[in-house]
Amino acid sequence: MRNILTQRLAALVVLAAFVFSFAPVGAPVYAAYPEPVRGKRAMVASQHELASKIGADVMKRGGNAVDAAIAVGIALAVVYPEAGNIGGGGFMVIRNAKGENFAIDYREMAPKAATRDVFVDKDGNLIRGEGGSTIGYRASGVPGTLAGFDLAFRKYGSGKITWAELVRPARLLAENGYILSHRLAELAKAYREHLAKYPDSNRIFLNNGKYYQEGDLFKQPELAQTLGRIEKQGAKEFYTGQTARMIADDMKANNGLITLEDLKNYVAKERTPLKGTYRGHEIISMPPPSSGGVVMMQVLNMLEAYDIRKLQSNSAAKYHLYIEASRRAFADRAEFMADPDFANVPTFGLIDKKYAEQRRASINERKASSSRDIKFGEPAGAESMDTTHYTVVDPSGMVVSNTYTINDLYGSRVTIKGTGVLMNDEMDDFAARPGRPNLFGLVQGERNKVEGGKRPLSSMTPTIVLRKDGSVWFALGARGGPRIISAVMQSIINVIDHDMDIQEAIDAPRVHHQWLPDEVLHETYGLSPDTISILTGFGHKLATNTGNIASATGIMIDEKGVRLGAIDSRSDGLAVGF
Ligand code: GLY
Repeated sequence: MRNILTQRLAALVVLAAFVFSFAPVGAPVYAAYPEPVRGKRAMVASQHELASKIGADVMKRGGNAVDAAIAVGIALAVVYPEAGNIGGGGFMVIRNAKGENFAIDYREMAPKAATRDVFVDKDGNLIRGEGGSTIGYRASGVPGTLAGFDLAFRKYGSGKITWAELVRPARLLAENGYILSHRLAELAKAYREHLAKYPDSNRIFLNNGKYYQEGDLFKQPELAQTLGRIEKQGAKEFYTGQTARMIADDMKANNGLITLEDLKNYVAKERTPLKGTYRGHEIISMPPPSSGGVVMMQVLNMLEAYDIRKLQSNSAAKYHLYIEASRRAFADRAEFMADPDFANVPTFGLIDKKYAEQRRASINERKASSSRDIKFGEPAGAESMDTTHYTVVDPSGMVVSNTYTINDLYGSRVTIKGTGVLMNDEMDDFAARPGRPNLFGLVQGERNKVEGGKRPLSSMTPTIVLRKDGSVWFALGARGGPRIISAVMQSIINVIDHDMDIQEAIDAPRVHHQWLPDEVLHETYGLSPDTISILTGFGHKLATNTGNIASATGIMIDEKGVRLGAIDSRSDGLAVGF
């Protein structure tokens, strides 16, 4: 009898411990967060202090958030060269003070000569290294950054600041140089293997093999000249002027695909912003060719049925639901998502709340499913078949959420001869071999195959979240390939369900699951051994050595209108406000 009682008592203690680990216990357990940077009127949150200051200065002189975002973007090409760019592309989501939303797609386009099997050799194997989709001249799509900035400037700029004034600060930074941080000096060394193969990259970023040290003055004279031409002649210089000719010539000399005609034909496009809701808060994000907004809305729609607040921010129970929802949304991503100008993408079917109900139905709250068994769903409308983010808020309340990229850090590693322009390797965001993993391990389908003139599918998720009264609450985005989506949605959940401020929400630990490979990425100090053991008990496979899961930046506007800027503690940068 005594034994039975002891056993029952022991069972109760275990049960209580299990239940307690899911029970509400107050505020998030991670106590040490920096305060967000405060600004009464305006704020720029970017991954480099100099770029943020340039943006803030534009707004002090009467420019709006779009003007500032352009100046920040061009400055980051100089001071954050591994991801900031004029040789890549991205997405800009804008909300003006009247509450109108806009989305500018300046994603790279595949050169006309690119075809489905351009990255496959005669034996059907993926080409690795030079000639493949990640390294070298053929890895680049036609850059869209300057065309996108030009479109944003003409349609949504304040009209009070000239184009030249937005380019000049970046040109001066390239000409006069800036002091290299420890991070940037070491990062270039870490990427030396491939950078060293391309003479201009080797000279500019590796000092011809002598390397730069922390504290060195880093100048980029060729980039300064290129920016000087763009400052005087406008963005069109990059597409039809001397810079275009230099890009086309260097491509031709090195078996690249981009021609003068490809550059001339590049177009930035306006898309209808993607809209959804989470617990009554409107969310505005980027539609395809980014998968970011759609995957995020699918996951949030699935999670809305659960009491996430009660489960607490870092419980195994919450992570389990999040992982299961992600698994299903990423399975749909692989099948359905691509450039909507080339493939039928059932965007509205995918983000429909009824569809989320169907997808959610197979989630077991205590048991992991296997990605082998989770196929894509049946949304209505379907037919068969290194990046950086910055956010700007101006005195009027206009918000810009911008993510742009050259894909991998230092992109294709190719700097076009004589221009200082580091090119993207965005062709790897296509399904280089449909059904096989890319740089990020993502498996993608036929819809996202390579085709001339098409935009590769992206995960970039520049997003704006509103309060229930329709005013802007916060805006954010991240770098990190498909992990961007996880960083943005978990930050949103942290604010809405767990009452965190923007800095806490961005800094809190996160997990990532992208359907395939079937494993949960988690951060070095992100999950306690207890949480890991519960998740493993549910049947999840946890990856080892994940490192950080993306890095985000964002701005929140508090009830008094104060702008609160936040840079992820996982990376560098500084928010600057006034
Ligand atoms: N190149 C990363 C992305 O666009 O998702």
